[in-house]
Amino acid sequence: MRINQYIASAGVCSRRKADELIEEGRVMVNGSVLDVMGYHVQDGDIVEVDGARIEPVTKKVYYLLNKPAGYVTSTADKEGRPLVTELVPDSVRVFPVGRLDLNTTGLIILTNDGDLSNKLMHPSREFNKKYLVRAAGIVTLKEAEHLARGVDIGGFVTSPAEVHLIKHDRNSTIAEIIIHEGKNRQVRRMFEAMGHPVQELCRTGLGNLTIGKLALGQCRKLSPAEVEYLKRV
Ligand code: URA
Repeated sequence: MRINQYIASAGVCSRRKADELIEEGRVMVNGSVLDVMGYHVQDGDIVEVDGARIEPVTKKVYYLLNKPAGYVTSTADKEGRPLVTELVPDSVRVFPVGRLDLNTTGLIILTNDGDLSNKLMHPSREFNKKYLVRAAGIVTLKEAEHLARGVDIGGFVTSPAEVHLIKHDRNSTIAEIIIHEGKNRQVRRMFEAMGHPVQELCRTGLGNLTIGKLALGQCRKLSPAEVEYLKRV
C-alpha cells in the first residue's frame, strides 16, 4: 500500500494531506524521515507521523453513538475532558467522523475506517443532518421561513434548510431543522442570528441513519446495510 493511502486509511488525514506531511518531513519509516513520496509500506515497517506510531487498520468497526453533553468529539483533549471515544466499548481504537459541539448531544459515528471517514467528511458529500433544537424565546413562522431560506451567520449565507416548529412555551421554542452543510456551530449561529440563542441541541439524524431509541451515552454497531449505505452515498 502506498504511504499516503496507509496514513489515510488509518484515519490520520486525507491522502492529499498525507502527501503534505511527507513533504514537511513529518513522516518517518523505520526511524528515518521519509523522502520518497510514492513509498510502498512493507510488512513490518514502523510508520510514524509526528512521532506517533500509525498502526495498520485490520478489522474495521463502525459505531453510532448518542453523545452526551460535556464530551469532546475528539480522540484527545488538552484539558482532560471526557472524550466520545471513551464511550465505545471496543479494544480497537476509533475516531469520530465529523464534530458535535461540547454541549450538543446526539448522533455521531465512530470508526477506524479512515477511507470512509475521509469520504464522508468531503464537502461534496451533502448528507442531511437533522437536529432537534430548543431555542430561547418564541420563534415565529416568519423567522422559521427566514431560517429555511438562508441566514447570514457572519460572512456566510446558509443554503436552504427545512425548519419545522414543534411547540413553544413562554420562554423557548422547540424546532426541528435539517441542514445539508456543516459549518462550524452552524445551527447555533443560525438561531443566534435570528435572536434566539440555542439552549439545547441534539442531532437526531444523519442521512438515513437515526438516533432512534439509543440512550444518551450508549452506542451500537452499524449494521452491514448501514455501512454499505454510508459507503454508497
Ligand atoms: N450545529 C451546531 O451549532 N453545533 C453542533 O454541534 C452541530 C451543528
